[in-house]
Amino acid sequence: MKIAIIGAGNMGGAIARGLAQGTLVRAADIIVSNPSTGKLDALQADYPEMNVTTDNSVAVKNADIVILAVKPWLVDQVLGALRLDLRQIVASVAASVTFEQLVKSVGPEQTLFRLIPNTAISQLESMTLLSSRNADKEQERLMLDLFNELGMAILIPESQMAATTALTSCGIAYVLKYIQAAMQAGIELGIYPKDAQKMVAQSVKGAASLILNGDTHPSVEIDKVCTPGGMTIKGVNELDHEGFGSAVIKAMKACLK
Ligand SMILES: NC(=O)c1ccc[n+]([C@@H]2O[C@H](COP(=O)([O-])OP(=O)(O)OC[C@H]3O[C@@H](n4cnc5c(N)ncnc54)[C@H](OP(=O)(O)O)[C@@H]3O)[C@@H](O)[C@H]2O)c1
Repeated sequence: MKIAIIGAGNMGGAIARGLAQGTLVRAADIIVSNPSTGKLDALQADYPEMNVTTDNSVAVKNADIVILAVKPWLVDQVLGALRLDLRQIVASVAASVTFEQLVKSVGPEQTLFRLIPNTAISQLESMTLLSSRNADKEQERLMLDLFNELGMAILIPESQMAATTALTSCGIAYVLKYIQAAMQAGIELGIYPKDAQKMVAQSVKGAASLILNGDTHPSVEIDKVCTPGGMTIKGVNELDHEGFGSAVIKAMKACLK
C-alpha cells in the first residue's frame, strides 16, 4: 500500500513519521510532497527510505491513499490541481473543510475521508477523528487501522466533526492549560518547574489511563481520592466554587463559534 502525504508541516510531517513507525506501511511506500525542501530533508534524515518530492503530482501518481495536510485555504487549489483516479482514497486533514467543499475539487465519486488528528500524533498518542464519504467497510477499517497505530482513531458522522474537534484538537490545549496552571501552583509551593512539570504531566497521563483502561467514570475516580473531611475534597470543591467545570464547558463551546 502506497501513501502520498501532501504538505510536510506539523500534521503532514507527524503523520509521515507516525506511519513510518507503524507496522502497516513501510517508509519506502510513503512519499511526502512540500514546496520548500527543509522539512523534506528533515524527514529523510529520520527515515532515509522515505520518498520526498516538491511536485504534488509526482507524489500522488502511484498512491493508494492521498493525505492532504495543507492549510484549509489551500485545499481547493492543491486538490484541484491533482490528477486523481477513482481507486485512490483522498483523506483531508484540513480542520473545517467539509465533504461538500472537497467534492467541488474531486467530484462526487471519489472516496473521501476527513481526518482530524491532534498534536499528540507526534508521540503516537493522537485522538484521531475520521469521517468517510463513498467508502466501503474495508476502506473504513483500513483507515482506522492505520490511525489506531498513531494513537486512537474513531469513525464518526461528519455532522459530529466540529463538536468532536473541540473535544480533541482544541481540547488538548485546554489540558495543557491545566498542566501549566498546576505547575505554577507547584512552583509557588517551592517545587522546581521541571519537577513540577513531570509530576503534573504524569498525573494527567495517569488520570487518562484510569479512564481509558478501566470500566469507570471520572466521578468514581474522584470519589476514590476524596477522603471525607480530607484535603482533596477541599480542592475539588474550590474548583467548583471557582467555576472550573463551567469554564471548561464554555471553552469547548467557544472554539466552535
Ligand atoms: N495542528 C493541529 O493541531 C491540527 C489538527 C488537525 C488538523 N489540522 C489541519 O492540518 C492542516 C495542516 O496544518 P499544519 O499545522 O500541519 O500546518 P503547517 O505546519 O503550516 O503545514 C502545512 C504545510 O503545507 C505546505 N504547503 C504549502 N503549500 C503547499 C502546496 N501547494 N502543496 C503541498 N504542500 C504545501 C507548507 O509548506 P511550506 O512551509 O514550505 O509553505 C507546510 O509545510 C491544516 O489544514 C489544519 O487545519 C491541524
